[in-house]
Amino acid sequence: MLKKISFVVNGKQETLEVDVRESLLEVLRNRLGYTGVKKGCGVGECGACTVLIDGVPIDSCIYLAVWAEGKNIVTIEGIAKNGELSKVQKAFIEEGAIQCGFCTPGYVLTATAMVESGKKYTREEIKRELSGHLCRCTGYQNIIRAVEKALAD
Ligand code: FES
Ligand code: FES
Repeated sequence: MLKKISFVVNGKQETLEVDVRESLLEVLRNRLGYTGVKKGCGVGECGACTVLIDGVPIDSCIYLAVWAEGKNIVTIEGIAKNGELSKVQKAFIEEGAIQCGFCTPGYVLTATAMVESGKKYTREEIKRELSGHLCRCTGYQNIIRAVEKALAD
């Protein structure tokens, strides 16, 4: 069954017909071209597909596109402003928190939500907030340091 939905992605209004079984991940990547939204596990375990929905990090692989009706979605493509990387993106580069980069968009989006919350986080709380993300390359230490740096700036 098809359903017409509308939502905002990175500030742009989108209206399209989706199959009610399609995930938001499939719609963002395959229909709208936001390939920064990565498909890892496809079952809500790795965090590679994370997007912000009304400011909250969500695994888009287990979120139906029809649930996004009327929502405001941000993908990694919407994080830099006027060609300038965000402070989270800069911190990831400065701390060498990227190797293959497959997990990076998800981490950056979750860290962005943390920064935007205005809350203070201990190192243990940072680890807990990031626990929904898997990285096969970095050993996590540089990622944690990058998020600490972005939160401190
Ligand atoms: S692809 Fe969505 S959590 Fe792994
Ligand atoms: S940098 Fe390769 S999976 Fe994280």
